Amino acid sequence: MLYLIFSDVHGNLEAYKRMLKAAENINPDAFICLGDIVGYGPNPNETIDRTKKIKNLFIIRGNHDKVAAGLDSTDTFNPVARKAIVWTKKKLKDKNREYLKNLPKGPLLIDNKFTIFHGSYFDEDYYIFNPFDAIVTLQNAPTRISFFGHTHIPIIFKFTPQDKLEVITILTKKNKLEIKLDTKSYYLINPGSIGQPRDRNPKISFMTYDTKKRIITFYRYKYPFQKTEVKILKQKLPKFLAERLGKGI
Ligand SMILES: [Fe+2]
Repeated sequence: MLYLIFSDVHGNLEAYKRMLKAAENINPDAFICLGDIVGYGPNPNETIDRTKKIKNLFIIRGNHDKVAAGLDSTDTFNPVARKAIVWTKKKLKDKNREYLKNLPKGPLLIDNKFTIFHGSYFDEDYYIFNPFDAIVTLQNAPTRISFFGHTHIPIIFKFTPQDKLEVITILTKKNKLEIKLDTKSYYLINPGSIGQPRDRNPKISFMTYDTKKRIITFYRYKYPFQKTEVKILKQKLPKFLAERLGKGI
């Protein structure tokens, strides 16, 4: 099976369209979305509509989806994120609010092969940035391979049979980077973000996982973020949300 795995679209239609265009060539058997379709970006309804059209999609909610759906408060959000999510809540069509409300909460086991969650295995709101954050999830996840989102940073945490925890940071300038997974280690893998990359690379970031060959492939593509910036400013969303897209922060 070839899975196309993506996360954190965040209402960025231009970035999402670029991924969907790339997906036509990749032609995966199924798609995996690790949450946060909305929040920050100016096109929450449009990104939900596109998501609904994806065939063979496994999806879980993200923290922004949860708050936009009215299932949680904005208490944990910083002022910029809060302003954007209040705006998003108002903009959402009723049917799309319902869609977000009904999204399953991770962790979710996919085809008995791997596990997905938005933040960490135990807490969808928890950020896994470093090995200390990763270790609890790596030692408790029911499968050798798990995928997560939330941090917007493409990365691999690898726990080897020799009890070593390796961090593989994906800093490629190429559009495509393949990595072969071994059969003995445990992996915790983040595909990066579609709509708001934060690894100082403004290109959209997503990945595929070929379960037969045990190969994961990271993809990076340019998209016209200037269009998204204009929309963000037009909607009077915080200026920083526009500025960060071109910087990848
Ligand atoms: Fe996010």
